[in-house]
Amino acid sequence: MQRSLLALAVYVMAFTVRAHEGMWLPTLLKGIEGDMQAAGLKLTAEDIYSINKGSLKDAIVLFGGGCTAEVIGSQGLILTNHHCGFGAITDHSTVENDLLRNGFWAKDLGQELRNPGLTATFVIRMEDVTDRIVPQLEAGQTEAQRREAVTRLSAPIIKEATEGTHYAAVVRPFNYGNSYYLIVTETFRDVRLVGAPPDGIGKFGGDTDNWMWPRHNADMSLFRIYTGPDGKPADPADANIPFKPRHVLPMSLEGPQEGEFAMIFGFPGNTQRYLSSFAVEYVMEKADPMRIAMRTASLGVIDAAMRSNDRTRLQYADKQAGISNAWKKWIGELRGLKELNTLQRKRDYETAYAAQAREKGQDHYAAVIDQLRTLYGEYIPYATARDLFVEMVYYGPDVLRFADGFQDLIDGHEKLRAEGKLAQAVSDRLSGAEGYFKNHDVAVDKAVFKALLPIYRKHIPAALAPAVLREIDTKYKGSTDAWVDALYARSVFADELRLKAALRNPSAKAMQKLAADPLYRVARSFFSTFLDQVRPQHAAVGDRIETAMRTYVKGMMELYPEKTYWPDANSTLRLSYGQVEGSRPRDGVTYEPFTTLDGVIAKHVPGDPEFNVPQRLIDLHKAKDYGRYGANGTLPVCFTSSLHTTGGNSGSPVLNGRGELIGLNFDRTWESTMSDIQFDPAKCRNICVDVRYILFLIDIYADADHLLKEMTIVEPPVAPHTIELPIHR
Ligand code: ARG
Ligand code: GLU
Repeated sequence: MQRSLLALAVYVMAFTVRAHEGMWLPTLLKGIEGDMQAAGLKLTAEDIYSINKGSLKDAIVLFGGGCTAEVIGSQGLILTNHHCGFGAITDHSTVENDLLRNGFWAKDLGQELRNPGLTATFVIRMEDVTDRIVPQLEAGQTEAQRREAVTRLSAPIIKEATEGTHYAAVVRPFNYGNSYYLIVTETFRDVRLVGAPPDGIGKFGGDTDNWMWPRHNADMSLFRIYTGPDGKPADPADANIPFKPRHVLPMSLEGPQEGEFAMIFGFPGNTQRYLSSFAVEYVMEKADPMRIAMRTASLGVIDAAMRSNDRTRLQYADKQAGISNAWKKWIGELRGLKELNTLQRKRDYETAYAAQAREKGQDHYAAVIDQLRTLYGEYIPYATARDLFVEMVYYGPDVLRFADGFQDLIDGHEKLRAEGKLAQAVSDRLSGAEGYFKNHDVAVDKAVFKALLPIYRKHIPAALAPAVLREIDTKYKGSTDAWVDALYARSVFADELRLKAALRNPSAKAMQKLAADPLYRVARSFFSTFLDQVRPQHAAVGDRIETAMRTYVKGMMELYPEKTYWPDANSTLRLSYGQVEGSRPRDGVTYEPFTTLDGVIAKHVPGDPEFNVPQRLIDLHKAKDYGRYGANGTLPVCFTSSLHTTGGNSGSPVLNGRGELIGLNFDRTWESTMSDIQFDPAKCRNICVDVRYILFLIDIYADADHLLKEMTIVEPPVAPHTIELPIHR
């Protein structure tokens, strides 16, 4: 009897606290408060999001354009990822004072480093304004007319929300424009770098470990928000003072416990949960394979070049990281979608949806499936051409954008001369060119061009190919290599000295010669084909798809009202919940949820660019000097939890049921990356730095314990069976 009760209890536990799909709007948490409390939340919805009192949301920061950070100190100290602070860290680094390699810890406020342009934004409030927008929109409007109408209708709402304040506001569409929210924000403009571990700790494992578990990386950095003397946002200035937060997240010394409730609060960028089978088919059969093939080819060239010498390694580090991050993600996404049989599931769903619609006498919902099929038939050639353009021009040979950048000068030289602005324009170009040639290796660029071109040609719809590519067949017997060799051999854009010479006397004749330059002509052909023949159609059909999707998802909610729905991520504030847990990512494979410093040291490879740990960490490990942050004879480093996340959740706080910080989100496991399209509770896990590793690095490794004084550090609670848990408010 006792035994079966226990089994039942375990079953109920396992059932109620498992992973949950969904990224919830903070204003709608009342509706899932009961579920969250049953799963282990000790707070109320009002503790998480309130417009009447300080709440968790007041500690959540949109960091720069695309990451999340959180307030952890009473003097405006914020925590985010190392890869989110990367730009600031590298900006302050020089060969003599290499903060990236050595780490950086300001000893006091005076040493904190300013970062003009970097911002920290808080959400003041969000409000559903659908009723003030949607009823005013006319049926049959095009998307362009609709956007215009929404802008017009939003203006008074925004004015009313911000008048007499220093706040900004926007009205954003959710659920393909089935609803609209007003979002009022406060943006601070003086955000200073406070601390970052050496990249041997903060980027430990590099690309090899990226998107993978087990992980051993402290992907963290610390910043501080400053305000004007009046406490309001101000440009960076000496007179500025540390920001006074409305809420500071407590740091849990207990750290994450396996099986406990966890939640994440941040700014996820973009998901496509409701995609039709036609779109998924494009992603799986075309977009992902084609983009993976192109990036595999360029990484082959770039990785080899970076290994061959240090100059190229530094020149290409940033570009390589950008190419490889998405490349590795797409490989995981494709595998995950195949394994989940997502395409067939979507098709089956659409069949059932159409049948349900007809049965309920809602034929216009059934019809939308056929509309989407037809629209995707039209859309795919343009989507293909657009995706290929992005890969070729933005992630391919840099010379295409470089040469195209001369268009203003080449086309506008007469006007510039007449206005007396030509000399300045030429000198701007010359200094731009200097930077370009310093940061690029022409041989690598040419090799990337050669590697990508055959893949581009294989996939580009004939009618949307840049006309200039015909030369490959007409003049070069179909040899793309020979064509690229000839372009680089004859173009001044592949040779710094020749380019400088060509610009020495910017006469009309010299400009005509530049206009006929082989790489310039190729670049123009790529750009003008895209701008004239691809982009307008891509946008027009894309708009009609948007209209159809709005009807499609509205139908889902009406035809299957018993299901729960969450709006796709759109860089607005969201909360996901689940628990601290491992996973079973593949047949025969189990992932434990925790890693330790022993694992870091085991991966250490002296001198390796990705796996070289600083000596001080090795020494602290040898001495087992973990202070109060160790557990079970070692130091916890990373953990996984079953929280639904995506890009933009980088730097988001992972909190326990009492709203205390237990971890810092920075990645997903490779087997989770399809969760932007389909979430699988058994597999999808986000990866976090354990709060105890963060505190250890600040307190013991960096000896920056002065920062601890402004934090709220929570001792582990007394065992729950001996005393009632205090509810943290
Ligand atoms: N995969 C993480 C994200 O999507 C971390 C990327 C930064 N790290 C790297 N090795 N490139 O942003
Ligand atoms: N590293 C990602 C970011 O920069 C988060 C990982 C993910 O996509 O889940 O936002």
